[in-house]
Amino acid sequence: MVEWKQPTDEIAKEAFYNLQVKYPEGDTKVMQDHYESWAKTYDKDCERLHYNSPEVICDAVGRLVAATDKNECRILDLGAGTGLVGKALRDIGYNGEMTAVDYSQNMLDCAMKDGQIYNVAINHCLTADNPLPIEDEKFDLVVGGGVFGPNTIRANCLPETFRITRGGGHVVLTQRLSVKNRPFLDKMDSEINRLIAAQKIEQLEAKPFTQYSWICENEKTEQLTGRLLVFRKL
Ligand SMILES: C[S@@+](CC[C@H](N)C(=O)[O-])C[C@H]1O[C@@H](n2cnc3c(N)ncnc32)[C@H](O)[C@@H]1O
Repeated sequence: MVEWKQPTDEIAKEAFYNLQVKYPEGDTKVMQDHYESWAKTYDKDCERLHYNSPEVICDAVGRLVAATDKNECRILDLGAGTGLVGKALRDIGYNGEMTAVDYSQNMLDCAMKDGQIYNVAINHCLTADNPLPIEDEKFDLVVGGGVFGPNTIRANCLPETFRITRGGGHVVLTQRLSVKNRPFLDKMDSEINRLIAAQKIEQLEAKPFTQYSWICENEKTEQLTGRLLVFRKL
């Protein structure tokens, strides 16, 4: 199934390949290896494909955290990658303690390179059977840009994400809204609905946005749509 027209630009084509990499469903190790090797070109690829999750997450966080709380807000960046989301939050004045979690050491090395973004880096592969080495309710805010997916962090890790968020705190996520991702999105939605029905969380926002865009044939713009999800822990 062809979902998108390829970029015309050769370098953007390579970036698009990295984004679209073929991987076997459910194989954690293959994806981890992919991120280990993608680390060195990840930021450039995101730039070439106009990756927009960091800005969208920052806008959403701005609607949640009062300006006076910016210095105190303890943030966990789940699947922090090279630190694009953390950096965007620092750039708009979130000066509190920030922790990065990722299972790719190469990604974490990029994120920690200039020592300006995260106070703490945790190399950890989050699965339902491998909970985070973090105490309950530690964070005011958990962000995750493009990390929940069929081969990355699964829907059954949502309860663990809320476990480390304080009551009244927030979780802000983005994820791909593609046809291929539909079965996973359905699993995610049923897990979200289960948590809402159990009065563990409240959903504040769910809306689509342009997560990546590039120029394809005939100078047209192609885009990969994402969705923003914002929750409050009850
Ligand atoms: C698409 S990248 C997004 C990185 C960053 N959040 C951003 O917006 O640029 C996904 C990241 O999640 C990490 N990751 C994927 N599955 C993970 C898991 N189960 N546990 C920890 N990290 C994971 C990958 O290593 C990668 O750095």
